[in-house]
Parts: sequence; structure tokens; C-alpha cells
Amino acid sequence: MTPITHKTLEVPLLAALGPVTPEESRLLEKLDLQRLPRHLAVIMDGNGRWAQKRHLPRIAGHRAGTQTARTTIETCARLHVEALTLYAFSVENWRRPQAEIDFLMQLLREYLRQEMPLIQKNNIRMRFLGRLEELPAGVQNDVRESMEKTAGNQGMVLCVALNYGGRAEIVDAVNAILAAERTSLAGSVPRRVSEEDLSRHLYTDGLPDPDLLIRTSGEMRVSNFLLWQIAYAEILVTETLWPDFNRTRLLEALVEYQKRERRYGGIREDGSEEPKPARVAGE
Ligand code: FPP
Repeated sequence: MTPITHKTLEVPLLAALGPVTPEESRLLEKLDLQRLPRHLAVIMDGNGRWAQKRHLPRIAGHRAGTQTARTTIETCARLHVEALTLYAFSVENWRRPQAEIDFLMQLLREYLRQEMPLIQKNNIRMRFLGRLEELPAGVQNDVRESMEKTAGNQGMVLCVALNYGGRAEIVDAVNAILAAERTSLAGSVPRRVSEEDLSRHLYTDGLPDPDLLIRTSGEMRVSNFLLWQIAYAEILVTETLWPDFNRTRLLEALVEYQKRERRYGGIREDGSEEPKPARVAGE
């Protein structure tokens, strides 16, 4: 396959992004399209604070957050990012008031229905990461349908982390390995589990590990998100609240990511070649 060069991508890319502001245009000029993160993961935080600042109920912040999700998804798809993972609902989020939980579940279902044309138009394949079997039946149906409808798409993989917990994911992977061992003929011979084995049993099987983790609204925590997969990720925390994280802020984050030197625990030899990651899931 001929590698896509910056030059061949540039014109269709700018057209694909639609009208850009002068600031976005400046950022796009700085961006090396060959060195974008293959996988971008986002902790979408600050919806509640965004609403509070406007004397609105928290749910108004979540609704505004869906617009940011739309822009982020579309921009990443058009920039040819391979995978985007959005943290929509954690295993800890069940501790929120029931009315807010119900609203978030309803909002997600609405979102999946309304955004399907945009998802299809951008050739996006949907995946969901988390203990999906614990979700309300209606949400499970919509989740299944979204995956089925987009299964043949070849573009960006959009992962929505839903009832997701990083520790729960690792526990599920270990249990899946143990279950497979019990049923396999070689089950009586205990074997050592490798990093590759474990990666293959995570919800993210087949995807590259995130290169960049963005957290909005300033908290310096990873909040049980993709604990295994972010081992070598660059972490970028911005004070911007999620509903305000527009396309300009996203492009800024990508430019900032490209300024970072990624060493994966190795040393950089005279600035020429970057050491490769110790391992990448799915490779
Ligand atoms: C964190 O803000 C946000 C969430 C728990 C929910 C994120 C969900 C959406 C943006 C809805 C749509 C999702 C998709 C994938 C379209 P917070 O409530 O913790 O904010 P706070 O820290 O300011 O209270």
C-alpha cells in the first residue's frame, strides 16, 4: 500500500474539515498529519461545572457535551485518526443520583439514534468498552444495533466506554483467560500469561494503545480509565471544560502532543529515530 503523504492528504483534508477559523488554519499548518496519535482517548470531564457556571441543571452540561463529542468524533475521523475512545460512563458513575443516571442513559440512546447518519457518512465503526451486560436492556439493544450497523465500516474506530472501569477490565481479561484455560485441552498444564495474552483479552483487543490521553476540566487523575493501555500514553490535561472543548482546542492538543518527545522508557539517539513502544496491543 502506498503510504499517504502529507501532500496528498492536505487538500481533501481541508475540504473535509469544512470552513476553518484563522486560528484553526494556523494550527493545521503546524500539524504533521503523519504523526497524529493513532489512538486518542478522552476523559470528557466538566459538564456539571459548565452547567453550574451558567446556573443551569447538570444535565444541561451533559447535553452540551454531546455537541463536543460530535465535533471531536467528526474531526478525528476526518484527520484519519485510527481510533478514538470516549469515556462516557464509568463503573463509579452509578453512584450519581438516579435521575442523572437515567438522563445519561437516555442521552446516549438519543445520541446513537441521531448521530447514526454522521457515523455512517464518516465510515466510522463503533465499539463499546465495558461491562455492557449490566446496562439497562434498552441501552444494550441500541449498543448492539450500533455495532451491527457499522460493523462493515472501514474508517476510524469509535469506542464508547460505557459502564467501564480499568480494573474491572483487567479482572475480566484474567477471568476470560482462566475460563479459556479450563475449556482447552492443555488446561491441566498451567502456563504463564504474557502481556500479549492479557492485551488480547481486554475490551480493546486489536486496537493500538492510546498515544494520547486528553482530560478536560483540569483534574490530574486517570480515574480508572484504560489503566493497562495508557502505559506509554502522553497525558494532556486542559482546564477547558468538556462542553467548551471545541475543534480549535482539539487541534491545539494535537499540536501540543507533537511537541512531546516519546521515549517509551528508552533513550533517544541523536534525535533521529524514535525507539518503538515496548508493545502495542493487537500487533
Ligand atoms: C463528566 O462530567 C461527564 C460524564 C460523566 C458524562 C459524559 C457524557 C457525555 C458527554 C454524554 C454523551 C456521551 C457520548 C459518548 C456522546 P461531570 O458530570 O463529572 O462534570 P463535573 O466534574 O463538572 O461535575
